Amino acid sequence: MTDLSPSDLAKFAAARRSVDFVEDGMKLGLGTGSTAAWMVRCVAAKARAENLRLTCVPTSERTAVQAKALGLNVVSLDEAGWLDLTIDGADEFDPQMRLIKGGGGAHLREMIVAAASDQMVVITDPGKQVAQLGAFALPIEVVPFGIDSTMTHIRKVLESADVAGREIALRSSEDGPFYTDEGNCIIDAALGQIGAPEALTQALNAIPGVVENGLFIGLCDRVVIGHGDGKTETLSADEDAIETGQVDPNEAASLPG
Ligand code: 5RP
Repeated sequence: MTDLSPSDLAKFAAARRSVDFVEDGMKLGLGTGSTAAWMVRCVAAKARAENLRLTCVPTSERTAVQAKALGLNVVSLDEAGWLDLTIDGADEFDPQMRLIKGGGGAHLREMIVAAASDQMVVITDPGKQVAQLGAFALPIEVVPFGIDSTMTHIRKVLESADVAGREIALRSSEDGPFYTDEGNCIIDAALGQIGAPEALTQALNAIPGVVENGLFIGLCDRVVIGHGDGKTETLSADEDAIETGQVDPNEAASLPG
């Protein structure tokens, strides 16, 4: 019997299914977040069990620490060059497999790594599936210099954007502003609904001081949805059929880490 909560079992199930796409010799991007942390453990278990030679590029300092502790071969993106596959979590995904990411504050590196990969597999739970993006506040990474004027520009862009809400807030941590691995700040935009994600991402990224926002468009190839009973569903960008599976919850107990 597993003692995992349904929420953790859903994350483990998605993570466990996603590593079926990992093959010997791959250069692999490792995402960030609680679901990705399960995936890193599953990758380490698979690498040990099957004696795989993997080259891993983490999308955050957190993931780098975890992957190294589990004995994975960790290199920088520049050392790896182009990647075969990136597996990462998401905060929301829509029917076109457009994503909102950055709840964990790592979306800049996550996007750079995903964009340098042949394939991106996203691991999620059913609660993150939405008809229209925007219920999750959109993270916008900005440089700290001139942040007030950058926020003024963001407000102006949102005034004419096809969105349902326009509240923005500087993300904070216990010690003051939250800083990303790149030393930047994050503005969270509570938009409610995003009618035109492509137009919005272009307009936001054109603002001086904005480094990247959390809309991932045209990057995701597959979404693996894990359920609280260990079932999985895999959606593909190029296939209509949904592939279903079942993960053994007891496998979680034997994972390293
Ligand atoms: C971090 C991210 C994460 O992938 C996203 O926040 C999902 O995290 P979790 O799996 O913990 O729900 O984008 O920047």
